Amino acid sequence: MQSTMDRQADQQDDQRRDDQPNGLHVAIIMDGNGRWATRRGLPRSAGHRAGVQTVRKVVEAAPDLGVATLTLFAFSSDNWRRPQAEVSALMALLRHYLRAELARLVDGGARLTVIGRRDRLPEGLSVEIAGAERASAHGSRLHLRVALDYSARDAIAAAAARWRAEHPPTREAFAQLLASQRGGGDVDLLIRSGGEKRLSDFLLWESAYAEFCFVDTLWPDFGPDDLAAAIADFRGRERRFGGLAPIAPLEAAE
Ligand code: FPP
Repeated sequence: MQSTMDRQADQQDDQRRDDQPNGLHVAIIMDGNGRWATRRGLPRSAGHRAGVQTVRKVVEAAPDLGVATLTLFAFSSDNWRRPQAEVSALMALLRHYLRAELARLVDGGARLTVIGRRDRLPEGLSVEIAGAERASAHGSRLHLRVALDYSARDAIAAAAARWRAEHPPTREAFAQLLASQRGGGDVDLLIRSGGEKRLSDFLLWESAYAEFCFVDTLWPDFGPDDLAAAIADFRGRERRFGGLAPIAPLEAAE
């Protein structure tokens, strides 16, 4: 007999399938900027600059490929360990992106939100982020989420710390709690460029049933065609969410 917990999990799985009626949630770990630059004899910051061009192209292409939410991993909480010069270059680039791209994002119907910690960002950046979020708040064609000073483990720990009820949270309640700060819900497809096959503390809870696509292409060389190919491959996969594939009825004996 099915237990209450199993029934609850089934209901949540059914709901998960219907969660994104308007499109997919695609998350991308944009890896390979540094190698791209080094191979060309350029400083790593040149790779990050080239990576921003890819961000622009991918953001533009995403809605027509059926993407409703796009979460990009721009700076992990562990990236503070990089040399100060590279961290500063990345922060300057993100600030520049906000300034240079906001009008284009708004015109294209994108809503921008930034997830992750804001208290360690360089002075003024969080104010600019809040301004960009306000200015694009009505965008309904694409929800673009940029993960900045983001750690999934920290996000989960922070959500747990916010839990004040007496009962342990259900999956659903905890997911809502986790998502309550600019949430994007479950990830459908997680793409990582650059050849590595790991999650690097990105969206651990939200990727519980994500499909994964690891590509060797370095992020500056990634483009809308690669995104389209990953989505086409995703659409060919059977998502069972822990259940069983529907079994085709046996052919009637002739
Ligand atoms: C990983 O490549 C990439 C990053 C740590 C930064 C990603 C940032 C951008 C693409 C630009 C800014 C983003 C937005 C949303 C405007 P790596 O440097 O670790 O590459 P490597 O593995 O080749 O060294």
